[in-house]
Amino acid sequence: MAHPDRFLLAGVMGWPVMHSRSPLLHNYWFKRHELAGTYVPLAIRPEGLAAALRALHPLGFAGCNLTIPHKQQAMTIVDEMDAVAKSIGAISCVVVKRDGSLAGSNNDCYGFIHNIKQEQPGWRADAGPIVVIGAGGGSRAVCYGLLQEGAREIRLLNRTFARAKGIANEFGGPIKTLPWESRHDALDGAAMVVNATSQGMSGQPALDIHLGKLPKTALAADIIYTPLETPFLGAARQRGNRAVNGLGMLLHQGRPAWKAWFGIEPEVTPELRSLVERSLA
Ligand SMILES: NC(=O)c1ccc[n+]([C@@H]2O[C@H](COP(=O)([O-])OP(=O)(O)OC[C@H]3O[C@@H](n4cnc5c(N)ncnc54)[C@H](OP(=O)(O)O)[C@@H]3O)[C@@H](O)[C@H]2O)c1
Repeated sequence: MAHPDRFLLAGVMGWPVMHSRSPLLHNYWFKRHELAGTYVPLAIRPEGLAAALRALHPLGFAGCNLTIPHKQQAMTIVDEMDAVAKSIGAISCVVVKRDGSLAGSNNDCYGFIHNIKQEQPGWRADAGPIVVIGAGGGSRAVCYGLLQEGAREIRLLNRTFARAKGIANEFGGPIKTLPWESRHDALDGAAMVVNATSQGMSGQPALDIHLGKLPKTALAADIIYTPLETPFLGAARQRGNRAVNGLGMLLHQGRPAWKAWFGIEPEVTPELRSLVERSLA
């Protein structure tokens, strides 16, 4: 729980890390909740991760987030992991427990689902087939979250088929893997399509997909937030589909972290969204 005499500390470990918008997000919440505390970017080389994580407790940190390239390596360092982190195969958040031990969790799927729910009230995962494109770490969080929400059919496509098959085999349930060449046709009758590849990110080519078969009623979501509107989302919006970008996924994943670190559930307000959007502009 937050304590009035304590200076609250958390941060994000990455390499590189200075591009991270997490300090902006978390420091907004310190201000909004009128708490004495700070959230800092921590540039940690992969070979220094174990020492850095073990230093959190003596330094008085409540915990930290992890970004590239630390999310998998941290699994070999923490003392315990929750079921979500184990299933997704990555740790996005570390909590320092009272005795100094480290607990790892993954809040990316919470972030994805709660962003969709906030942006599209009334959205249901069981409304119809969902097409997920990509099979990296982001896709694992998306698929896990959609299954938890009761998705009845997930059509999973990835350039490297074996990676998609790996997710389907591990997660089980209603995930159908389809070959990459069928991605345009896979949109037929879908209620939702998610871009969980890195295609469309600043500096990367657009995702190669034709939206002709996507029903106009379908929701298009991207987990990318640089740029805020990827070519995929722009094309979907132009033809009349509802579109949700990836920024809210980042913002919402911070909420369970705060709950675990400081005992507070902060809100993703329109003011916070526009603050982070302005920093990305
Ligand atoms: N909003 C958020 O909070 C959030 C959270 C996590 C990730 N993200 C974003 O999501 C994106 C993916 O991240 P990640 O961690 O999942 O990355 P990752 O594990 O490296 O996976 C990358 C995915 O993109 C696919 N891909 C790469 N190049 C491609 C190409 N030329 N054509 C088709 N597919 C291609 C890969 O397919 P192969 O398997 O064939 O290589 C793989 O499915 C990044 O832009 C990241 O910033 C956002």
